[in-house]
Amino acid sequence: FAEDGSQLWLRFPAKNGISADKIISKGNSPTLNIARKELSSHWQGQTVELRTENKDKNLKDGYRIVSTPEKIVISAGKEIGLLYGVYHILRLQQTKANLSHLNIIEKPSYDVRVLDHWDNLDGSIERGYAGRSLWKWEDLPGKISPRYEEYARANASVGINSVVLNNVNASPNMLREDYLKKVRVLADIFRPYGIKVYLSVNFSSPKVLGGLQNSDPLNKDVQKWWKNKAAEIYKLIPDFGGFLVKANSEGQPGPQDYGRTHADGANMMADALKPYNGIVMWRAFVYSPSKDDRAKQAYLEFVPLDGKFRDNVIIQIKNGPVDFQPREAFNPLFGALRKTSEMVEFQITQEYLGFSNHLVFLAPLFKETLESDTYSDGQGSTIAKITDGTLRPAKMTAISAVANIGEDTNWTGHHFAQANWYAFGRLAWNHQLSSEQIADEWIKMTFTDDQNFLNPVKEIMLSSREAAVDYMMPLGLHHIFAGGHHYGPEPWGDYKGGRPDWSPVYYHQADAQGVGFNRTKTGSNAVSQYFPPLNERYGNISTCPENLILWFHHVPWDYTMKDGKTLWDELCYTYDSGVKKVRGYQKIWDRMEPYIDEQRFADVQSKLKIQSRDAVWWKDACLLYFQTFSKKPIPYDIERPV
Ligand code: GCU
Repeated sequence: FAEDGSQLWLRFPAKNGISADKIISKGNSPTLNIARKELSSHWQGQTVELRTENKDKNLKDGYRIVSTPEKIVISAGKEIGLLYGVYHILRLQQTKANLSHLNIIEKPSYDVRVLDHWDNLDGSIERGYAGRSLWKWEDLPGKISPRYEEYARANASVGINSVVLNNVNASPNMLREDYLKKVRVLADIFRPYGIKVYLSVNFSSPKVLGGLQNSDPLNKDVQKWWKNKAAEIYKLIPDFGGFLVKANSEGQPGPQDYGRTHADGANMMADALKPYNGIVMWRAFVYSPSKDDRAKQAYLEFVPLDGKFRDNVIIQIKNGPVDFQPREAFNPLFGALRKTSEMVEFQITQEYLGFSNHLVFLAPLFKETLESDTYSDGQGSTIAKITDGTLRPAKMTAISAVANIGEDTNWTGHHFAQANWYAFGRLAWNHQLSSEQIADEWIKMTFTDDQNFLNPVKEIMLSSREAAVDYMMPLGLHHIFAGGHHYGPEPWGDYKGGRPDWSPVYYHQADAQGVGFNRTKTGSNAVSQYFPPLNERYGNISTCPENLILWFHHVPWDYTMKDGKTLWDELCYTYDSGVKKVRGYQKIWDRMEPYIDEQRFADVQSKLKIQSRDAVWWKDACLLYFQTFSKKPIPYDIERPV
């Protein structure tokens, strides 16, 4: 294998798979053929039998694996389950598990496991840091990149079964006939890997593309336009998944342009897709310039519409109420919609986490959200249980994340960013896996199982998200990024005359008294959107978790924190500890040289240099800036700002 990262975690033994007579299976579908090919190319163990069984239909896309030293039987209700089962045993082989007495039942946590690409038709990617888009729209449908199938295989290997091809800030052209014919080619390549294609659609498409007078969802001609469009799509792509819609958010068109509601808009599209079993993922990431707290807007707009959405509409909610920050309180909309299906949207691409320069393993962030207890139905009402159908009978269950994939050789820019694609897939399949387990298997598959590498690198990964929070935005600080690109710090950003809700000063509110956004009763009262006891817990400065204290409170500089330090000192030490952690990662990584290939070693080493420089930049910029308000010294045992 080339050691350039192009193989991702799929580094199975390249030769000497078992012979055809040791693969027992009936049938001849494209999916089964892939399963057999994976075995004959890479499986070196006992005989494998693949069986579809009616009794396993309740496992959905899942499967059973039962083995003796002589034989492994993989059974599933659907063929895709067999392929997933094959990837499971290949993973076990690669991570050197004992294969002779397996007894495994797997059933996915979510039905729809989606990667959202924010790829534009011109090949650029919004918030993409791994090169240009994988999708070569100009070459399609005639010329087919081999990476389309490699991409599908990587997704299937972790159970991702849905792909939104284009940016949520959608071009109406996406629905043009010539583009749909290109989309069909991708759908055909992805299908045997169990992957359905979805598209982001622009709400104004009937007007812009169809030449109608408007795109009002109650206009019969508009409704008909969407019905015809759906018919056209399904003729080309019979298993098309559906639409993802960003409407009335950040300037995008939507039903409110015509005085209609999100439900009117979503239902119109849902009706068009219904005859074909298509779904609408309608985003709750809505906000517009207003005097009110941006963090409250999704809840305010959507809660009154609960129960008004069609069954094939699911509301797609970002994990936090502001925007994919290094740490946010969870979005209070989770659990608040009782009669409407809800799904999480994560961001794998590191828009707010150092692009593809910083090593930040995101499984702990994803888990933190999924395990958050909303108390919507009493204690234990976690976001995982609300969205996976455990707590309420769900009409459908789904989970999504914005992809970090581009045409870079290693797919994701940073070799360790591959782990975030992997982690999302694994958690979409089984949200009970621990971050530790995911990191463990990913390192073994991607690098080596040598303990001298595995253990220290796992340490880095597992602490890396907290390190990033520490050097960027500790204690609940948020959105103090440089405007536009969101890479470095700009806590002083004050876009007067522009959008206050895009200004960092609006989010940290630093003044002579203290720092932090007052979201309690005396402030924006966003705390009231949380179920009891969280509204009280967050609303009270002494019970509010300290890692969110500046999210919910404007805290005096000399406020005494739980460890006895003042807020100011705590801020200084936390920024500093983020820097120290990254320096520690550099030292650990330098010692990893003997265990892996030169190229990936050197690539990661140089990225860590950037990360550690950036961490210092964050610490210095933020502390020096906040110091202009606190007027307090930076403790002497902290490295002086450069
Ligand atoms: C963020 C991001 C935008 C994106 C938006 C969204 O604001 O910066 O580029 O379009 O989220 O999720 O719609």
